[in-house]
Amino acid sequence: MSEVHIIDHPLIQHKLTHIRNKNTGAKEFRELVEEVSTLMAYEVTRHLPLKEIEVETPVIKAKSKVIAGKKLGIVPILRAGLGMVDGILKLIPTAKVGHVGLYRDPETLEPVEYYCKMPTDIEKRELIVVDPMLATGGSAEAGIQFVKDRGGKKIKFVCLIAAPEGVERIQKAHPDVDIYTASVDEKLNDHAYIVPGLGDAGDRLYGTK
Ligand code: URA
Repeated sequence: MSEVHIIDHPLIQHKLTHIRNKNTGAKEFRELVEEVSTLMAYEVTRHLPLKEIEVETPVIKAKSKVIAGKKLGIVPILRAGLGMVDGILKLIPTAKVGHVGLYRDPETLEPVEYYCKMPTDIEKRELIVVDPMLATGGSAEAGIQFVKDRGGKKIKFVCLIAAPEGVERIQKAHPDVDIYTASVDEKLNDHAYIVPGLGDAGDRLYGTK
C-alpha cells in the first residue's frame, strides 16, 4: 500500500488558505501555487541519496555532499498540473518535464490520452506526476498508467488538495505510488468538486472563469 504524506508545514498551510480563498485573483493564485509547489518539492526530494565529493573552499580542501546522480522528471497532467511545474523546477532545475493530456470519453467515461510526451530516458528517472487536485482520482490513475506504459517505474504523485475518494483510488490502482498533498479535504460534491477545495484549479490558474 502506498503512503500518503500530508505536508503540514506552516508556510504551506498558510499559503494554501490564501489559495482556497475565492477572492484571490488569478495572478496571486498562480504565484501561490508555484510557491507551494516549491515548498512541496523540498519534502518530496527529502529521501534523495547523497554522496561525498571534494570541494575547495577559500579556506581548505574539504569533503562535502551532493545529490548522488539521481535523475528526476516532472510530469504535469494538463492543464492544471502545469501550474506546479515552475515551482518544482526552481529546486530541481535539471529535471526533465513530460506532459500528459487526457479527456474523458463522454460515452464510455474512460480517460482518453490526447497528448503524451515523455523524456526519452524515462525508465532511468524518478518521476513526479503533478496535478493540483486529486478529486475522483480518474485522471491521476490514468495519467500514472500512461507514464508506466511508457516505461516509468519510480513514481510519486504530488497534489495540493486531495479528496479521500481520490486517495483511495490511487492507493488501489497504483499501490507503488506514494501521494504527497498539503491537505486531504472532507469529500467530493455531486459535481466531483473537492469540498471545501478551491474550485476549479485550471480556471483559477488561467483566469478562464
Ligand atoms: N478539479 C478541480 O480543479 N477542482 C476540484 O475541486 C476537483 C477537480
